[in-house]
Amino acid sequence: MKTTGNTIFITGGTSGIGRALAEAFHDRGNRVIIAGRRQDRLDAITHTRPRMTGLKLDVNDPASLDAVAATVRADFPDLNVLIANAGVSRPEDLTADSWESATAEMIVETNIVGVVRTVAAFLPMLKTQPNATVMATSSALAFVPRTAFPAYCASKAFLHSWLTSLRHQLRNIPVEVLELSPPYVQTELTGAGQATDPRAMPLGAYIADVMQMLDAENHPRGEVLLERDFARRWAERDGRYDDIFAMMNPA
Ligand SMILES: NC(=O)c1ccc[n+]([C@@H]2O[C@H](COP(=O)([O-])OP(=O)(O)OC[C@H]3O[C@@H](n4cnc5c(N)ncnc54)[C@H](OP(=O)(O)O)[C@@H]3O)[C@@H](O)[C@H]2O)c1
Repeated sequence: MKTTGNTIFITGGTSGIGRALAEAFHDRGNRVIIAGRRQDRLDAITHTRPRMTGLKLDVNDPASLDAVAATVRADFPDLNVLIANAGVSRPEDLTADSWESATAEMIVETNIVGVVRTVAAFLPMLKTQPNATVMATSSALAFVPRTAFPAYCASKAFLHSWLTSLRHQLRNIPVEVLELSPPYVQTELTGAGQATDPRAMPLGAYIADVMQMLDAENHPRGEVLLERDFARRWAERDGRYDDIFAMMNPA
């Protein structure tokens, strides 16, 4: 995708990776529309940024998505980039007597159904544009799971497969499909502790790498993936799956 001259709609734009990506694109002069449930965050982020708009959105609510899509269709008819980035993550102990499926259901609803629903709402608009891109945020954990996050990792594996099919189905339609697969990054995805966890990649450094990869069109097969995650991406092919799985999930 080109990194200037776009009109971009990004879900999960109120914090973390989505917010930082929105700001990076906005710094390059793109028109950016951020979406999320927290109105105070939307207001604070857009307050000092002309050409950035905030729209309240809950991707788990089809009516909310329909309303936002209608607003974007009316107010931003040149929308050419969708970044479906909203997501949630929670650990789950499937061995606990108290374990029940509510957490997994919430993750599936947001990370899977929410993304599919978002793409469905915006794809018709994108298909009318000459330089259109759909990007969705999966995870490097799509390729080898961290077992403490079973539904989360499975939701990202779903997205990896689904985006592969979407890309193939759109091969004769000029809508590029990108999969953003972040490593462990300093955001509040799993709680405040993650934002300062020294094992996680600093957010600014990650976004700088992503913008560099997009600028250079350095995303083979549409996968925007850091080199350090290639081992996980190709673990199965390279016969390293068991070793990497064991490293990530000590017995
Ligand atoms: N940080 C990492 O280590 C990492 C690694 C791999 C992949 N990812 C993925 O990156 C994406 C962004 O996560 P992050 O790390 O930046 O965490 P984050 O700061 O918690 O951001 C999550 C975003 O999703 C939005 N969101 C959650 N549920 C929503 C809903 N029902 N409707 C609309 N928006 C919703 C949140 O906005 P509101 O609360 O305002 O609605 C927030 O802006 C996620 O898909 C995550 O799985 C993150």
